[in-house]
Amino acid sequence: MTALEQVYVYHERTKHRLDRYAAGPPTLDWDHQPDPFRRFTGCEIVALPLSADSMDMSWQDLFAKPPASQPVTLRNIGVWLELSLGLAAWKNYGAARWALRCNPSSGNLHPTEGYLICAGLDDLANGIYHYAPEIHTLEQRCRFEITGRALYLGLSGVIWREAWKYGERAFRYVQLDSGHALGALSYAAALLGWRLEVVPASDAQLMSLLGLNRRADFQGAEVESPDLLLRVVTKDKPIALNHLLEACQQGVWQGEANHLGGEPHFDWPAINAVAAATHTEQALPAPVAAGDLPPALTTDCAIPVATLIRTRRSAQAFDGSTTLARSAFYRILDATLPRSDQTPWTTWPYAARIHLILFVHRVEGLAPGLYALPRYPSAEKRMRQAMSSQFDWSVPEGCPSALPLRHLVSANAQKVARTLSCHQDIASHSCFSVAMLSEFDTTLALHPAEYRRLYWEAGLIGQVLYLEAEAAGVRGTGIGCFFDDSVHQLLELQGTVWQSLYHFTVGGTLTDTRIQTQPPYGNRKFEQ
Ligand SMILES: Cc1cc2nc3c(=O)[nH]c(=O)nc-3n(C[C@H](O)[C@H](O)[C@H](O)COP(=O)(O)O)c2cc1C
Repeated sequence: MTALEQVYVYHERTKHRLDRYAAGPPTLDWDHQPDPFRRFTGCEIVALPLSADSMDMSWQDLFAKPPASQPVTLRNIGVWLELSLGLAAWKNYGAARWALRCNPSSGNLHPTEGYLICAGLDDLANGIYHYAPEIHTLEQRCRFEITGRALYLGLSGVIWREAWKYGERAFRYVQLDSGHALGALSYAAALLGWRLEVVPASDAQLMSLLGLNRRADFQGAEVESPDLLLRVVTKDKPIALNHLLEACQQGVWQGEANHLGGEPHFDWPAINAVAAATHTEQALPAPVAAGDLPPALTTDCAIPVATLIRTRRSAQAFDGSTTLARSAFYRILDATLPRSDQTPWTTWPYAARIHLILFVHRVEGLAPGLYALPRYPSAEKRMRQAMSSQFDWSVPEGCPSALPLRHLVSANAQKVARTLSCHQDIASHSCFSVAMLSEFDTTLALHPAEYRRLYWEAGLIGQVLYLEAEAAGVRGTGIGCFFDDSVHQLLELQGTVWQSLYHFTVGGTLTDTRIQTQPPYGNRKFEQ
């Protein structure tokens, strides 16, 4: 099989179907869940300041009056990581205690790990640092010599953490989680006036840079797969990737990865196969920008960005009664459009390949039913050709001209949304739910590794929806569990030209008051 065929095989076999779920472990031993916190023993560590409380810029100002760029210092790196990959709270219920983070994760399993690559900073030595969110601390994996100034961040994924619970479908979730992490990093960077950019790097390069291929440091420990490389854009001339790679190859490495555990220990060959098929030895072709879009709709949310980020939660249940204001609905959707000058799309310089299908349940003044949001205008034509000829593609009442939202059909879509999302009430008791439809065949034809990039884009859209929902006074939840081909059948899509990769839901939340909340870093003091 070619790598491309492997990807198709994996995608097909990991579809949930109404009559059977994708292969997963027959039992779960919750007392032996993989450790959500990777640590490297034997490293020098740098405790990061906890300064995010000092960030008071509001959500509306982040977009209307973006902050000036703050210096790249240890304090600001602390703010950045605290508000992206850091803990947001500890929760407990009875004897169970678990951490929540600023970035969400399927099953709260958190496969995503972050590594800083620092050069020429005043208060942090040159090197590669693993971020340990549990204690908001950097573990120095590598010390190296280099000239120039730069701050990069690499993301990797411990696929085992997700596979432990979700079996074969886990590979998809790890990629979605990376997309969410990318979004979380982009928003937190924007609060510091920093722009993040995705750096074209191959998996082989990223493995060397982050030390993921250093087998001796991972003996008996679960491996990490390389995902994304990001750079904080500053006035300084970027250090070339090859130069960084040379420096860390000659650098001094330290630390051994911990064993994360997790029983029962199933192996999923289908995951190994798709991981190999989507591995890159060379960076994917240069990004294609999205093109110009009309100016964004504004928000009047005066809540501090830092508060929104830290209080963002996945709704566990919706009230089934909240009606979302139409203007709020339009703003939430508008924020998903890939405007090259708006956070977090400033970080994602690729043309949109994912478009939204909306199941509208309770939005003020809008007929319940199905709607479509082609995320760039020219996609509408292809969507129309591919979907049911019964859809009317009319412009909904009061829809701003900047927003290419289209009405497809009026209906009570609650039951169908619930069924499609693995019978989960969160898809029907909300104000609206979403299916993210990708331009699958054409994107994969570019390179098999584009499969992962599609999921990253979907995760990034999910992160926008999470934060925009909070800003609108409602709440979101990612939905990785859905019946793939039933979604396609509903829309009368043929073949694999269009494939749904992720679902999402937004509504008025019900809070479980039995669960107690504790601060994320309770025993550590806030530092300016
Ligand atoms: C990719 C992804 C898929 C998810 N799928 C589901 C789902 O199918 N059903 C659900 O109730 N929650 C789902 N969630 C929500 C997670 O369970 C939630 O993010 C996690 O428990 C952490 O909680 P938090 O988001 O409040 O930090 C998903 C989240 C992500 C990021």
